[in-house]
Amino acid sequence: MSRETEAGEDRLESDIATADARASGGDVAVQVEGLWKIFGRNADRVFNSDLRQLSKTELQAKTGNIVALRDVSFEVKSGELFVLMGLSGSGKSTLIRTLIRLIEPTAGTVRIDGADVLSMPPRDLLEFRRHSISMVFQNYGLLPHHTVLQNAAYGLKLRGDDKDSREERARATLETVGLSGWEEYSPAALSGGMQQRVGLARALATDPDILLMDEPFSGLDPLIRRQLQDEFIDLQDQIGKTIVFVTHDLHEALKLGDRIAIMRDGEIVQVAEPEEILSNPHDDYVRAFTQDAPVARVYSASTVMEDPDVLLYRWQGPRAAHTELARAKHDWAFMVDKKHRYLGICTHDLVDGLIEKKVKSIDENDLDRPEPVSPDVLIEDLFGLVSAESYPLPVTDDQGRLLGVIRPRAVLEALHTPEEEGSDA
Ligand SMILES: Nc1ncnc2c1ncn2[C@@H]1O[C@H](COP(=O)(O)OP(=O)(O)OP(=O)(O)O)[C@@H](O)[C@H]1O
Ligand SMILES: [Mg+2]
Repeated sequence: MSRETEAGEDRLESDIATADARASGGDVAVQVEGLWKIFGRNADRVFNSDLRQLSKTELQAKTGNIVALRDVSFEVKSGELFVLMGLSGSGKSTLIRTLIRLIEPTAGTVRIDGADVLSMPPRDLLEFRRHSISMVFQNYGLLPHHTVLQNAAYGLKLRGDDKDSREERARATLETVGLSGWEEYSPAALSGGMQQRVGLARALATDPDILLMDEPFSGLDPLIRRQLQDEFIDLQDQIGKTIVFVTHDLHEALKLGDRIAIMRDGEIVQVAEPEEILSNPHDDYVRAFTQDAPVARVYSASTVMEDPDVLLYRWQGPRAAHTELARAKHDWAFMVDKKHRYLGICTHDLVDGLIEKKVKSIDENDLDRPEPVSPDVLIEDLFGLVSAESYPLPVTDDQGRLLGVIRPRAVLEALHTPEEEGSDA
């Protein structure tokens, strides 16, 4: 295909997108299509092979690569507050960062106000970040040795505004977020809520077209958090920015969001207005977010599985196993074969007996063998399989390879934790 045809088609596509946007009552500010991010070595090769079809857990076990975004597509309308929600690790931060290439995506397209972000040369990208976009981070991201005023003016300084005009603008923005009088203090003198306002002021000072906010209010105590949300709603009424907002708090999402996208394992499972999400959840996972359903009904085995502390290999003899077991927390350990397939549990007693009898190898038939479970089994259904005294449950893929183990205690804990609250890392 010639370049011209390609460009022509691009134009046609963007015409269609604009027409769609008009039809739906607003211009498209952010348009994401088929976005992938695979972390780890040879990510491109993994992406360009059948390996990318594997589930996140399977791919990680097989190649060590992590699929953080899988074929993500969505649009944010101009002036819309678009919320990204999902469990820890579902890909929210990766997604918001790939939009401006703080993380380079593996594949896909991102258009912001019509500009193709992924094909921008570095210099244009820098300009674009300085003028059109601001980001607010969860941990404020303030410069500790700069005053509140200097922090608020930082984006303006980066883009080369002169001192007087940037300070004037920063003062005005600090006033908007209720921080007049604090200009000359250092951030450390401010409470968490106030520091986050400085972060917000810094983001707003450059008058960006688009604000990206990654869990901006988490880590604040509930009262302050509610207050900031209220103020933020007022502010958004005045400024009408396009905002992509990450949270894992349903109440925050319902309060702020024009639309909510729910992510799971790097995919968007549903995008809808708050009412629609509540009345018509796409699946049990989404329902869990909307009904405060017990964790155990939505989380699968893969979310509570861990790496075993020590792993034994079939080809190791009893003496090697003995040495390895000395490092283990327990007097047993899981054993696998060369293909990493789960064989069973080898105990200290078994190994000692073999050494005593001068047997040189371990027979897999002598191993204890708790039934393995699949990574997709719901925690609820694991409950019947464990007791506090039993061995951990091995989790295996469809080829019998050991993916991880689940401690009985982890299952019991999951059953008794009401929500994710307070787990942001
Ligand atoms: N630099 C990295 N290298 C490898 N894997 C990564 C990297 N950054 C993120 N990941 C993985 O990508 C997946 C998505 O992570 P991400 O931080 O986007 O999740 P999140 O939804 O923002 O979670 P949280 O709610 O905990 O902030 C996770 O499995 C994570 O382990
Ligand atoms: Mg995150």
